[in-house]
Amino acid sequence: MATQLAKVNEIIDKYPARPSVLIQLLLDIQGQFNWISRETIQCVSDRLGVPVSQIYRVASFYKAMSLKPRGKHVVNVCLGTACHVRGANRLMSKMEDTLGIKPGETTEDKKFSLERVNCLGCCALGPVMLVDKDYHGKMTPARVEPILKDYK
Ligand code: FES
Repeated sequence: MATQLAKVNEIIDKYPARPSVLIQLLLDIQGQFNWISRETIQCVSDRLGVPVSQIYRVASFYKAMSLKPRGKHVVNVCLGTACHVRGANRLMSKMEDTLGIKPGETTEDKKFSLERVNCLGCCALGPVMLVDKDYHGKMTPARVEPILKDYK
């Protein structure tokens, strides 16, 4: 954890010490560690002079930020209406079986986190999943394992 806090301090050093940089700073920390720990929040609070409660509010509000450890790759399976009618539930079941986790969880090796979303904005391609920044449309359960293999 000491190494992580040293890196957090390095990231904070890149910004002017003012509350207005909070969101960008937290996104930067999230990008580095895939989550924002309690110790990190305390450190940011001390350095920027922003109350811990405010940092928690911001980090909880933005979906791009996580207060729990997240995997290296985040898999979002869309269960919105358009995807649902095209078999998104079967896709999600296959994903849960393949990864051995439920939505909101992270694999033990910290490689994948699984999330459910209500629309990814490309309904015509349903069922759709998003792995990191890659959209995979017209998904079938059979395509799950080959696609996941590409994410090391
Ligand atoms: S409902 Fe799945 S992308 Fe819109």
